[in-house]
Amino acid sequence: MEKLSALVLAAGKGTRMKSDLVKVLHPLAGRPMISWPVEAARQAGASRIVLVVGHQGERVREYFCADPEIAFAVQQEQLGTGHAVACAAPLLSGSGGRVLILCGDAPLIRPETLRGMLARHAARQAAVTVLTTHLDNPFGYGRVVKREEGRITRIVEEKDATAEEQGITEINSGIYCVETAFLLEALKGLRNDNAQGEYYLTDIVTAAAERNELCLAFPVADPEEVMGVNDRVQLATAATVLRRRINEELMLAGVTLIDPATTYIEKGVVIGRDSVIHPNVHISGATTIGARCTIGHSVSIAGCRLGADVIIKSGSVLTDSVLHDEVAVGPMAHLRPGTELLEQVKIGNFVETKKAVLGAGSKASHLTYLGDATIGKNVNIGCGTITCNYDGVRKHRTVIEDDVFVGSDVQFVAPVTIGRNSLIAAGTTVTQDVPPDSLAIARTPQVNKEGWKIKKAKG
Ligand code: UD1
Ligand code: CA
Repeated sequence: MEKLSALVLAAGKGTRMKSDLVKVLHPLAGRPMISWPVEAARQAGASRIVLVVGHQGERVREYFCADPEIAFAVQQEQLGTGHAVACAAPLLSGSGGRVLILCGDAPLIRPETLRGMLARHAARQAAVTVLTTHLDNPFGYGRVVKREEGRITRIVEEKDATAEEQGITEINSGIYCVETAFLLEALKGLRNDNAQGEYYLTDIVTAAAERNELCLAFPVADPEEVMGVNDRVQLATAATVLRRRINEELMLAGVTLIDPATTYIEKGVVIGRDSVIHPNVHISGATTIGARCTIGHSVSIAGCRLGADVIIKSGSVLTDSVLHDEVAVGPMAHLRPGTELLEQVKIGNFVETKKAVLGAGSKASHLTYLGDATIGKNVNIGCGTITCNYDGVRKHRTVIEDDVFVGSDVQFVAPVTIGRNSLIAAGTTVTQDVPPDSLAIARTPQVNKEGWKIKKAKG
């Protein structure tokens, strides 16, 4: 197979986004817009990807800096799509093969479609293949002028088109496959004598026709795939499409989504079969969820690893935490970074954890804060228990060993260690370590003053 490179044009500012952030870095389903066409090119077989950047090029570069397959060409001034590609020419010369050209603001193109275009291009030995589609309203797009079925002789921009050409409904998507050697030659001949005074990449089509080289159209049936994002209305439309694709992929892999329209799962999230996701759930980052889990409504999970048979009840928020098999959390629990819950741990309502490890079978069922805590197996944490982990300057750890029973309304003034199998009486403020198998109790003895109310009423 011929060597395949890709060019992604992303130098434009995106004025209509009305944003301080360059258009191609606006997030879509958890990733910057430009990473979608980059990923599509990669999945279509491109081994080297050149991004043509201009506005906020440094920020785009920063995002991809760790990727050895990605190179950058800078287009200082945006003089047109042909000029943008010419800026990347030095990075293509000598590489032979063919080049996929994509737009950084057209995130919906599917890798399968690119593969189809590449196969047709190779089979017909074309110099250029243009991905096209038919639009009821083609206004604003370059129109595809054909000599005979398939073969294109020219692409004419809206502003340069005659009335007759404006009637053509087949449009240029801005996505191409071009033989590298032909492209490098054709770029040299581009001129800017057109209505916009720009160097048009589309003029390589005329160059191919003049040299008797074949230029093909590869029409896609679904115009959605080539939709460009120019403003935030289109950004939301594109996000909806990407979300629907992610959701459909999950459902086809055996995950139940009760209401896909209100389920927000980012690309890259892994969910095991027979898991059930209720409405208004957000799952993001590098999250993996095992088989047969239930995620209740209005739950948010970011950067977590959940084992199998885990239940997260509604309203819970989980960040950077690890949950082993058969854990149950919520409703309305808050697991903050560094939480690890071993098998069968139960975290109930209004419980907050942070940098806290709970051993297998331990429970904190109600109204509790566990921060900087290491808790063993089969520990019961009573209602209203608090680890007082912060002295105003530093954080301190609470260690509770296996089989400890903590009554309700206990405070652990850290650093403190509770030996295994001890019992902490309700209402105790623990300020000293407790040896194993002990009872710790620290409360003011109760005083009952009989008849006190009656005496008070009499004055
Ligand atoms: C271009 C095509 C048009 C096609 C349309 C599809 C040309 C001359 N016209 O239109 O036939 O129907 O795309 O959307 O190519 N860019 C740069 N540097 C520049 C100019 C553009 O990097 O100097 C980038 C933009 O950031 C964007 C892409 O190229 O990602 C397309 O640019 P845009 O201005 O939207 O293309 P049009 O000229 O409108
Ligand atoms: Ca434009």
